[in-house]
Amino acid sequence: MQLRENTISSPLNYTGGKYKLLSQIFPKFPNNINTFVDIFCGGCNVGVNVCAQHVICNDSNSKLIGLYNYLKNTDVESFLNQIYQTIEKYNLSNSAEKGYVFYGCNSATGLGSYNKSGFLRLREDFNNLDENDDLFFVKLYVLIVYAFNNQIRFNREGKFNLPVGKRDFNRRMKNKLELFINNIKNIDFTNNKFSSFPIESLGKNDFVYADPPYLITCASYNELDGWNESQEYALLRFLDELDNRNICFALSNVLIAKGKKNEILESWLNKNQNYICHHLEFTYKNSNYQRKNKTDRDDEVLITNY
Ligand SMILES: C[S@@+](CC[C@H](N)C(=O)[O-])C[C@H]1O[C@@H](n2cnc3c(N)ncnc32)[C@H](O)[C@@H]1O
Repeated sequence: MQLRENTISSPLNYTGGKYKLLSQIFPKFPNNINTFVDIFCGGCNVGVNVCAQHVICNDSNSKLIGLYNYLKNTDVESFLNQIYQTIEKYNLSNSAEKGYVFYGCNSATGLGSYNKSGFLRLREDFNNLDENDDLFFVKLYVLIVYAFNNQIRFNREGKFNLPVGKRDFNRRMKNKLELFINNIKNIDFTNNKFSSFPIESLGKNDFVYADPPYLITCASYNELDGWNESQEYALLRFLDELDNRNICFALSNVLIAKGKKNEILESWLNKNQNYICHHLEFTYKNSNYQRKNKTDRDDEVLITNY
């Protein structure tokens, strides 16, 4: 599959997001896909750029999928109005309009000192809101924008728990949001654990892309939903089942990270000689290119059954 020229990036700065790897991953996807399933969609960096008859973006995080469905069904102008009203209500900065100096801040240290108290009030209000409240997803989005590194994270009780960040709803964030909203209108967002995804609904020209939490690096997206060896085994069985049904899949993962090896993945690969392991160039921030010992490099892979 050819990657579009003007790629769209997620409006969320998603841990483990694949935006920087798109140019390596997309050429390895087949052409002419009927239904493309991004089964661990996270920030949607992959699903939003896919060209297929039908795209399904699935994730087990119900608030994330709720947010995407809200964005899909909202009109950009009214969402922007609600964002600005929330920014005003919680006395958060609007540097795009007023600059940094107005808030007694500069770009190097950021806007956190000004935004902290409003952010904490917003976080508290959001954490006490019912998901059916009209402003639930507006507040969630504004929280993400003003949170540490624009990330999304919930604790075991399902409460948003990141501290305030350095940035605000600047032009870059606004542009990303608009572009994203305008490009998700035809995506179906579903909220399933991968293991409950109805694979019997998939056929020969359908395709599943799996980008699960990595067992050996264990980023925490959601403390409610850890990733462990038994989930890893269940995922590998799920992929084998797709293979048995002649459905193509691609799995993102790391075989080695920080000197640690994913033995489960390696022995699965050894057992399934028809699977192909493509080794990618690692491009994350703080990447191991800076590590002194080059043999210590992480081995980021894309495993396909075609
Ligand atoms: C590595 S992230 C995906 C990043 C995404 N590909 C991107 O580029 O933005 C992994 C995602 O898997 C989701 N997840 C964790 N356990 C899951 C499960 N059992 N079923 C489905 N999704 C799950 C997490 O909520 C997280 O969003």
